[in-house]
Amino acid sequence: MNLDKLARRTVLDIKPYVPGKPIQEVKRDLGLEEVYKMASNENPLGPSPRAVEAIKETLGDLNRYPESSCYYLKNKLAQFWNLNPENFIIGNGSDELIILTLRAFLNPGDEVIVAHPTFLIYALASRIEGAKLKIVPMKNFKYDLSGVLNAVTSDTKIIFIANPDNPCGTYVTDSELDDFLNHLSQDVIVFIDEAYYEYVDHTSDFPDSLKYIHTRPVIVTRTFSKIYGLAGLRIGYGMAHPEFIKYLDKVREPFNVNSVAQIAALNALEDGDFIHRVKELTLQGRAYLSKKFEQLGLEYINSVTNFILVRIGENVDKLCRYLLENGIIVRNMKGWGLEEYIRVTIGTDIENRKLVRLLANYFKKEVEP
Ligand SMILES: Cc1ncc(COP(=O)(O)O)c(C=O)c1O
Repeated sequence: MNLDKLARRTVLDIKPYVPGKPIQEVKRDLGLEEVYKMASNENPLGPSPRAVEAIKETLGDLNRYPESSCYYLKNKLAQFWNLNPENFIIGNGSDELIILTLRAFLNPGDEVIVAHPTFLIYALASRIEGAKLKIVPMKNFKYDLSGVLNAVTSDTKIIFIANPDNPCGTYVTDSELDDFLNHLSQDVIVFIDEAYYEYVDHTSDFPDSLKYIHTRPVIVTRTFSKIYGLAGLRIGYGMAHPEFIKYLDKVREPFNVNSVAQIAALNALEDGDFIHRVKELTLQGRAYLSKKFEQLGLEYINSVTNFILVRIGENVDKLCRYLLENGIIVRNMKGWGLEEYIRVTIGTDIENRKLVRLLANYFKKEVEP
């Protein structure tokens, strides 16, 4: 059956997003018993234990629809970030907030500006919603915000900034963001995606982006998928002016966030010890892997996140295949147009060391894991 004539025109040329391979699939396909996934920037320590405990008590209520307003979670988040519950929208993953923002604000002919390379969903969702897409290349794997300003026209509606960026792992500083917003029209929406916020060293010059939401059409998003370890439940949140939130609420499904995810997120927020442990493990693992990449003679981009972009050179497919056959999934960055790179998620100590051992073998280098 050919449905091209029926399909929405903006969808005809869309290539579906290809996620990292799941562990079970690799085990099945390659007959492996043990597989480490270092590909999708997930939490290698598992979910927040407090969240898991809390979920158990809610399972008897699964016959009921979830609370549409996410009342308790919004109140908890409001306390946590010193905002009002009206400043929040909860999404089925922070991914959904990208889609809702486009759906609520984009008119035919409007332009969206995204960087390259960055999180692929911005461009994908913008294309589906019929945006005219403008792509501003990164400079040395960092946002070129003056390039973004130069690309703005009277048709520009939304600018996406991942801070820190995925896959680069770099960040826009407070003075860079401030300067950028000072030069940008108040009529342009800035979507600041802080999915990796919790991994950043906040004594650094990383921006306090929440200060902008009160006076500008800025939305800041965060997620429970990363440091809180709840990727499988799909829950994230956005913070913006209540008027901005009202528009997102108009276009969201009434029950977009399931009840288990709401309870889990609320409890994960309070799981301070776990969050601390994940952060420590990530920082140690990041320092370890960075040092080992250097010893292996591999270029990498300095990261403030739970992943590192690493330059392999030619034949990335061959290396990825070798790692996969030996039980490690990393992300081949071809899909991003980065032909020579892989992205490695920081794992546990055992996972990181196994990766280094395999890389040393592959490149025939004498490097102690
Ligand atoms: C920059 C960025 N934003 C958003 C997301 C999606 O997060 P969520 O699981 O909350 O949809 C990711 C996931 O990898 C990401 O890297």
